[in-house]
Amino acid sequence: LTTQATKKTDNSYTADKIALRINYLPVKDELNILDCFGGHGVIWKAIQRKYNKKINRVAIDSRNDLLDFHLHGDNIKILSGMNLDKFDVIDLDSYGIPYNQLKIVFDKKFKGIVFVTAIYSKMGGVHKDMLIDIGFTREMMKKSKTIYGARGFEYFLEWLALNGIKRIVHRSKARKHYLMFDTEDVLTDCNSLQVDKLEGLS
Ligand SMILES: C[S@@+](CC[C@H](N)C(=O)[O-])C[C@H]1O[C@@H](n2cnc3c(N)ncnc32)[C@H](O)[C@@H]1O
Repeated sequence: LTTQATKKTDNSYTADKIALRINYLPVKDELNILDCFGGHGVIWKAIQRKYNKKINRVAIDSRNDLLDFHLHGDNIKILSGMNLDKFDVIDLDSYGIPYNQLKIVFDKKFKGIVFVTAIYSKMGGVHKDMLIDIGFTREMMKKSKTIYGARGFEYFLEWLALNGIKRIVHRSKARKHYLMFDTEDVLTDCNSLQVDKLEGLS
């Protein structure tokens, strides 16, 4: 798995999320976006203001104070029942690690660009199932509950590699990671990016 760390240009998280997405939008006249943690749509509204092609956004959210049209409910349930074929982009701007949502995206063999926000809490937040997927046993996990949290992002990258992802682009700040990958890996290299190869990962 190769990672490309983008240069940190400002200290606004939302601006970072927007910049990452604008840099890696598929080149198409019309884009279909599935925004699984839609919220108030701040990110995609900002992108549409800067982007002159049409963006069709389908949003999902479980909160009750949203006035804009959206699919209402738990995105894990909604994603499970959805056909993802018509979407060019899946956006997983979560508060934690969207393991279950990504699992569905991989199970459904989604073809396209995925943007992810992965945030690790100090004490953990690493999904047990993810650790099992990459080869840890339940006995190993019982022995130490906290060591896994410290290396959470590393394990997450390992898990992405296990799911066939060869390259990610990310902006990382402490425990917050904004990343994107192309499930088909047809991205062309971008000169402005720093490329890091992670040793020991397939
Ligand atoms: C970081 S905010 C998203 C902000 C949004 N991307 C924007 O541009 O305004 C995360 C959102 O995900 C929603 N959310 C969290 N867990 C969810 C779940 N399991 N299913 C659906 N929505 C969820 C929250 O209600 C919240 O609005």
